[in-house]
Amino acid sequence: MSAAKALNIAELHRLARRRLPRILFDCIESGTENETALSANEASFARYRLMPRHLVDVTRRDASLSLFGRRYAQPFGIGPTGFAGLFRPGADAMLARTAVAADIPFVLSGASVPTPETIAAQAPGRLWYHLYAAKDPAISADLMRRVAAAGVEVLVLTVDNPVPTKRERDIRNGFSLPLRLKPSILLEALTHPGWIIDYLRDGGLPTMGSWAAYAPAGSGPAEVGQFFRQHSPSIQTWDDLKRFREQWPGKLVLKGIQRPEDARMALAAGVDGLIVSNHGGKAYDMLPIPLFSLAAVKDAVAGRIPVMFDGGIRRGSDILIARALGADFVFVGRATLYGVVAGGQAGADRAVEILRDEVDRGLGMIGCPSIAALDARWLTPATPASQESFA
Ligand SMILES: Cc1cc2nc3c(=O)[nH]c(=O)nc-3n(C[C@H](O)[C@H](O)[C@H](O)COP(=O)(O)O)c2cc1C
Repeated sequence: MSAAKALNIAELHRLARRRLPRILFDCIESGTENETALSANEASFARYRLMPRHLVDVTRRDASLSLFGRRYAQPFGIGPTGFAGLFRPGADAMLARTAVAADIPFVLSGASVPTPETIAAQAPGRLWYHLYAAKDPAISADLMRRVAAAGVEVLVLTVDNPVPTKRERDIRNGFSLPLRLKPSILLEALTHPGWIIDYLRDGGLPTMGSWAAYAPAGSGPAEVGQFFRQHSPSIQTWDDLKRFREQWPGKLVLKGIQRPEDARMALAAGVDGLIVSNHGGKAYDMLPIPLFSLAAVKDAVAGRIPVMFDGGIRRGSDILIARALGADFVFVGRATLYGVVAGGQAGADRAVEILRDEVDRGLGMIGCPSIAALDARWLTPATPASQESFA
């Protein structure tokens, strides 16, 4: 089966697993320590059902939402996933094209292969940039200057991994810088010739575009990667946030906020939006499941700024449930990454089309012609047992 014929995100997931050497697929899937967060994120939606209103005219359905003065055709965007270009050469440009065609935002990771300038040119008005702040504030300042000059309007500052993560699968596989690959890992990689051919044709290990300009002169891809690792993760505080707010002229979004008090402090610091997230389970296994933190964060900012959400979305119905729980917008990480890995441009397009179609059908099925109207009144507990703790 080709990616373009996949019926759902789970099929793209299987195709992506088949295409990638295990070390790279593990790098997409891996969580930290006991790796419970990813499956908990995915399972969190099962706690809810959508209560339908029947005999409603749902001939015309509208899934569009406004955010930061722009109207997007769908209630979801493509979130930042670092190193996408290692999993599939050109992945970020493909995801950007998918976003433009679908009229949704694409957040380019600060750990991506292409430069923000290159991708901004391909996705005018649709590109957001995710900043991994550097230990050297001058680098962060220059990155912000470049990104603003490229026309990016929204900066996403990820705050949920101040210290290095403990992703045991990646450490065991040797996927940490510098790469130290065991022969068994290399042999397994040889059984995925599609990926190897693309990788070699593209020139081997790619360079991290955002960071190449700051690494010592003459640095190759591995040295740029090491330089990135010297600067990120970095510890940032509310004082640093003040500086980012002063330096960044556009909309500033914090990604990874889960605590209502942090949300209120972000609001006071002049932040324009929040993404409630546990980094798809890749930062720290014991962070809360974001679907369950959403309502309290939403309450804390009382509608003053948009509260967005990511974590575990594999179906259009997951997007509807997050929306009903208060998400002003939603992002997917792995869903579109599986698509682009599995089938390049066609796979990225397919992932977004699957979610678009499922959102549209879902709105029709529950008798809610406009996603803007979807709120907690459309939710019901999945089982009587969950009723007690149900908000
Ligand atoms: C391979 C991979 C790389 C990621 N890289 C980044 C990153 O560079 N910056 C960031 O803020 N989040 C990153 N994330 C987290 C995603 O932006 C998002 O929070 C998460 O994937 C959402 O969960 P989901 O994958 O279940 O949709 C990454 C996730 C994956 C799977």
